[in-house]
This record gives sequence, structure tokens and C-alpha cells, in this order.
Amino acid sequence: MNAPLIAPSVLSADFANLGRDCEMINSSRADWFHVDVMDGVFVPNISFGFPVIKSIKKIAKKPLDVHLMIVQPERYIQDFKEAGADILSVHIEASTHLHRTLAAIKQAGMKAGVAVNPHTHVSLLEDLILDMDVVCLMSVNPGFGGQKFIENTYAKCARLREMIDAAGSSCLIEIDGGVNEETAPRLLEAGADVLVAGNYVFGSKNPLATIEGLKSL
Ligand code: DX5
Ligand code: ZN
Repeated sequence: MNAPLIAPSVLSADFANLGRDCEMINSSRADWFHVDVMDGVFVPNISFGFPVIKSIKKIAKKPLDVHLMIVQPERYIQDFKEAGADILSVHIEASTHLHRTLAAIKQAGMKAGVAVNPHTHVSLLEDLILDMDVVCLMSVNPGFGGQKFIENTYAKCARLREMIDAAGSSCLIEIDGGVNEETAPRLLEAGADVLVAGNYVFGSKNPLATIEGLKSL
């Protein structure tokens, strides 16, 4: 098993000290910045938009993994590219012509990701398996940090691992929500490649050491 990629979720940062928290991620062993965009329609919460992402991009020394929890995400692909996204994930539940959306994300020069809600079966990804760079499996219902991990995610992750390997795809499996010292090892066993962690990192006494701990699993 390779060391997992670690993507701290900026949603759990202290927004009054966002520069400081971004520098912490820069100096840590984390691999990506996970950036959650919420529109108050697709999910019952609103987070932040382009000005904040542009400010993060100015400081970030690692790729921005932007997770769109918004309806009709295809309307904003170019804007997120210009704001600094390197990886752009849209929800399968939010994009009617997902195949076209993924092509447009790649055409704009970004890696294309598909995020999947807890109720959505991974078999729905089968016909896209060679078109996705990342699948972001939601292990909580999207909208908030610090929620309880949904146990069915382990089985879902293992099923997706089989699909990806059978297709010979290099698509990464990212897990988003409730990642901590208890869930992370089981997720890696089930075939996860990328672990997003918000509350577990930013709620800890020593975020650098917490990231180091995840990276060394
Ligand atoms: C939830 C977001 C997550 C969130 C994860 O809607 O997509 O990225 O920040 O937070 P934790 O790790 O605290 O569950
Ligand atoms: Zn997220």
C-alpha cells in the first residue's frame, strides 16, 4: 500500500487566520488543499466563493482540490480554473450531462473529479470509469464539517476499488467526511488513495503532527 495523499479541508480552518492555517498546510506533509464550495441549494449551507479561493491560491504551495457542492456546476468551470483550482470535482447528483462536464473540466486544464453522496450507488460510475481522475466518495452527507462517519463507506470504497482496477483506470479514490485515526486505516485497507480531513486536523492540538500521523499510516 502506498502512503495516502492527505488533503486537509480548509472548511475547518480559522477564517480569521486563514493565511496562518494555509501556511501550516504548506509546511506539513499534506499533499492537497481541499476546498469546499457550498451554494445553500445543493447543500443546506453556504461556505465561500471565488475571492477566498483566489486568496488561498496566492499562498498555497500545493494543488487546490476544489469540491463543488453546487447545482449546475458546469456553469462555473472556467471561473474556478481562473480562481486557481487544479482538481475540480462536481457531484454526480448535480450535473445532468456529467460526461460533458468532465470533458469541459479537462479541456479547461484541470483534473476532473466526481463526488458521490452517501445514497448514490457506485455502479452509476461504471460508464465514466475511464473519464474520471478522482472519485470523491462522501462518507457524510455533504454540507458540514465534523459529522459522524457513515460505516457503509468501507464497502462502497472496496466495490469502487474493484471497478477501477478491473478497468485498468488510474482514477484515485478520495474519502471525504469523518476521517480520523479510527476510520483512516480501514479506508486504506478498502483501497482509498486520498483522505480529506477537516475537523480531525484543525480540531487537534498539533495539526502538523496529526497530518504526519495520517501520512504515515
Ligand atoms: C463536507 C465537506 C468536507 C468536510 C469534511 O460537506 O465536503 O470536506 O470539510 O470535514 P470533516 O473531516 O470534519 O468531516
Ligand atoms: Zn469536501
